[in-house]
Formats: sequence, structure tokens, C-alpha cells
Amino acid sequence: MPELKMPANLPDPIVNENAKIVLQRRYQRKDLDGVVYETVKELFWRVASAIAKEEAKYEKSTTKPAKLARDFYDLMTSYRFLPNSPTLMNAGTDLGQLAACFVLPVEDDIEGIFDAVKHAAMIHKSGGGTGFAFSRLRAKDSVVGSTGGVASGPLSFLKIFNCATEQIKQGGTRRGANMGILRIDHPDIMEFIKAKERDGDLNNFNLSVGLTEAFMQAVHDKADFELIAPNTGKAVGTLNAREVFNILVQKAWESGDPGIVFLDRINRDNPTPAMGEIESTNPCGEQPLLPYEACNLGSINLGLCFAKGKNGKDSEIDWDELKRIIHLSVRFLDNVIDASVYPLPQISDTVRKNRKIGLGVMGWADLLYQLNIPYNSQTAVDMAERVMKFVQAEARSASKQLAAERGQFTTYPESTFGAANLGPYRNATTTTIAPTGTLSIIAGCSSGVEPLFALSFVRNVMDNDKLVETNPYFEAALKDADAFSGKLMEEIAKVGSIKKMDHLPEHLRSVFVTSMDVEPIWHLKMQAAFQKYTDNAVSKTVNLPGSATKEDIWDIYWKAYEYGCKGVTVYRDGSKTSQVLCTGDAE
Ligand code: CDP
Repeated sequence: MPELKMPANLPDPIVNENAKIVLQRRYQRKDLDGVVYETVKELFWRVASAIAKEEAKYEKSTTKPAKLARDFYDLMTSYRFLPNSPTLMNAGTDLGQLAACFVLPVEDDIEGIFDAVKHAAMIHKSGGGTGFAFSRLRAKDSVVGSTGGVASGPLSFLKIFNCATEQIKQGGTRRGANMGILRIDHPDIMEFIKAKERDGDLNNFNLSVGLTEAFMQAVHDKADFELIAPNTGKAVGTLNAREVFNILVQKAWESGDPGIVFLDRINRDNPTPAMGEIESTNPCGEQPLLPYEACNLGSINLGLCFAKGKNGKDSEIDWDELKRIIHLSVRFLDNVIDASVYPLPQISDTVRKNRKIGLGVMGWADLLYQLNIPYNSQTAVDMAERVMKFVQAEARSASKQLAAERGQFTTYPESTFGAANLGPYRNATTTTIAPTGTLSIIAGCSSGVEPLFALSFVRNVMDNDKLVETNPYFEAALKDADAFSGKLMEEIAKVGSIKKMDHLPEHLRSVFVTSMDVEPIWHLKMQAAFQKYTDNAVSKTVNLPGSATKEDIWDIYWKAYEYGCKGVTVYRDGSKTSQVLCTGDAE
């Protein structure tokens, strides 16, 4: 396909100071000596034109590549939507790998295990993250047929994956991130639950225990559950469900690790059960995938979808604008699948059959600030449902439109959509809520659906100068209330929050809340509200104060199950943590 020429009148993007640093360090093209030769404008045009070019092969397309490239350019450079990092890094380059999320199978034989190590290395090099279930590996000390020796078990192999990751920096841009999952009924589960006890152990992995409905029922009934040898399918022992759940809670209280995922629930929402069972998610948990499946994500900045009401009253969301952005973004993400070069033929095959995409949102806290709605309120939770219901419905409608232009996803007839006669759709899934660690820095917005970490904080800039950085919506509100001063900002930067600042107006203190001001239950309610209308899953951390007890965590875990979440991650303030970095600062 011919290159699309950059239009002479293409405007220069406005780039915030932090984005300048991040883009230069990791996204703009560099020559062999590491010298950046691409401007930010060229970067966004490279991405916009490479993705728009794919349009040319669809005869029934309702738009032209040149026009679409310009629309994509404007969409990204206005920071209303950004695709996941690998798309920004690799679109229009020889590498051409554009997806952030992969899941690889780990078979129960040495060849299969080392194939997975190699494939993970290839994916990390291209900027993607990998998830694996280790559940098929036979337990430690079981017999190995070929030699008559004994197996070393999932944990010993996990260490090999971890070590391999350590040695490979993703395409010189970011270090590989992994998710490791083990089913609760695997005989080595106790060892897995304790695998990250010591700080620094398995530091390239997030670990999650795959919980089943049967296990949750056993916890409820205070009953025992069976451990099943994966290689024989036979029960090899029993454990008390409540005791195991208690230990899980204890570990999460100590370090936040392991997290939990509800495997049966994930599979209940598997749109293509005929293609197999979902065993794992990507590294940050928001994207359940089949073995050898990949998914590309993208996020809409809700902070920019605010519409001021007349006379400053009845402020709302600009629904028409949001709809326009959703439709354009879905087309973008579907084109990304065509433009992407996947590292293995098995992956290309699975991806092209299901065409999963994950459109999500960021800037949620910024939107709530503008709407004057406290994050920790039922109004905010109701608004979350309203927004995500709209995003899901419009994303599906866009996917239907694409199916009319380009055809349905190949496995549609045997998918759950096909069975329910809902389609045809172009994509087996359309919505996912990502952490947006780096994207939110580039867009200058609050990340994902999280509350802000701090309203104001001190950032060390390169020459060791300290800069006080403040959330722009907070700054504007302070100015409106005639309460802004440099001295106040320095004071706020010390603690991040204004919760205890009695001298500030009450309405500001209730609206401008931060992660630690939000009670854990509201974190969870927010996650559940977004999950209700998300095809895949929601990346969210439930923050707890340092004083939180194990009972508090038990309660959160249990409620996450009751509220219909697909998993949950907790972080208790001050507890030791060696979480895999999923932010732009991951080195
Ligand atoms: O903002 P950005 O697109 O860089 O990524 P994110 O939304 O924070 O993370 C989305 C997904 O990208 C993660 O769940 C991982 O699958 C992948 N990722 C990774 O592999 N390595 C990282 N250092 C960060 C993200």
C-alpha cells in the first residue's frame, strides 16, 4: 500500500513537559547511535497514516485513507484517544508489532515450557506483555515418564521465565511484564501463594490465583476442596477452603501479592468457548485471552468529554462528541489488527479469527472533578455505569458497522454472539479498561478509572530542580474559590490530599479526593460499576490504609466476588511491594 504523504498544513501537536520526556525516551524513532530523528509530529503522523492505510483494502469502506489519517492524527494529538504503547512505538516501522497483551500456553513438557520462554522473549522485545497459566504443569515431585525422575513443578519453571525476562529489555524501551496464574486446585498452590513472600522474588511477575466457583462455594460452606493432579486428572489431596482463603488474604495484606481472578466467571464471558478455555490474563489483569491470543488496547480521555452547561449550570458529558470518538477509535483499533505483525504464526491465526479489541477510558477522575462529583459517592458509581454502558453500546454498534463493511469475525457463527443471534460483529470483544500508565502521562490526564494519587506533588526534574505539579482541574477550582496560593500548593504537595485541611471550603474537600481518601469499598464499587459494561476486565487497585486489617481484605475479596468483578488487586499503604511496574517509569 502506498505511503500517505504528510499534509503541508498538519498542525504541530502541543506536548506537555512530562510527555516530551517520555516520548523522546521511548517512542520517537532513534538511529543506531540512539539519536532521536523523529519529531513528535512525525511520530503521530507515522501512527495515524500506518493505521489509516489499512482502510484501502476494504472496498465498502465509508471513508478514504487520507481523510482517515487526518482524523486519527487529530484524535491522538488532541489527546482524546491514544492507542496502547506498542502501537505508538511500532506502527509504520519494520517491527510492526502493535499489541500490548498476549497470553501463551505452557505445556507440560520441557519442549513446550522452553518454547513459551522463547516466545515470551520475542513478545517482550516488541513491547508486549505476556500472561501464562502454569496450571497444566504436573506438580513438584510427580513422576516424569521419560526418565523415571521427578518433576520440579510450576514454581521452579516460573523462576526461569522470570530470569529470562530480566535479561531482555522490551525493544530497548521497557522491561517485560508477566502475569502468572495457577488454579486453586493445583497441588502446588500453597507454594505458589507464598512465592513472592520475600521482597524482590519473581519481580517480573504479577501472580494471581485462579479461583473457581466450586472453591468459593467451599469457602462459604467452610468445606474442604480437592487438589487435582493436572497430568492425571486425579484427586491427590484435600485442603480446607477457608484456611487457604485466609492465607491468601494474609499474603495480600503483607504485600498485595498474589491477586485473585475468578476463572469461571472469566469463562462465562468467553465469547468463543468453542476455541477453548481462558486460563490467563495479560500482566495487569484487564485482558483475559485464549492461549496464543493477543489484544490491542486504546483509551478515550473522558476528562476531555466534559460539556459545561449553560450559565455554568447542569454540566454534563458531551455525549455526541463521546460517540464520535468511540466510533473513530473502534475503527482505529480494528485497523491495528490488520497493520500488526505478530511474532508467531499461531498468534496471527488466533487474533485474526477473533479480532478482539479493548477500547477503554482514562481521565475518569478528571471528569468527576469537573462534574463536581466525589469519586466516593453513589452518584459517581451511577455515572460510571452510565458512561461505560454508553461506551460499550456505541463500541458494539461501531463493530457492527465494520462488520457490514468488512465482514464479521471468522468465529462469529460459533461464538456466543452468533448463538444469541446478536451480531454480526467485527470483533469478539470491544471493551477493556487498561491501567494507562504511560498513556495518561502523554495525555496529561488521570490514569484509567483510578482516583488521582495526589492533587499536588513535587516532581524532580532532570537538573535536580524541584517542580510543584498540580492537577489542572483542582488548580482551576481553587482559583474559582479564591483559595489559590503558591504556599498552599507546597503544603498540599507534602501530603497530596486536602482531606484534613479544614481551612479549605467543604465542597472542594469532598470533590477533590485522592486514592487514599477514597474508602476501599468505593474503590471496589467503582471497579464493579465499570466491569458491568466491560466485555473484558477492568484494571483497578483497591487502596487500603496502612491500618487496614486482614478482615478488611477478606471483606474486599468476598465483595469483589459478590459484586461480579473478574478479579481484584489490593494494596495496603506501606506494605512491602515488588509489583511489576506497569507505568511509563518501568525500567
Ligand atoms: O499506558 P500503556 O499503553 O503503556 O500501558 P498500560 O495501559 O499501563 O498497560 C496495558 C498493558 O500493557 C499491560 O497490561 C501489559 O499487558 C502491557 N505492559 C507491558 O507489557 N509492560 C509494561 N511495562 C507496561 C504495560
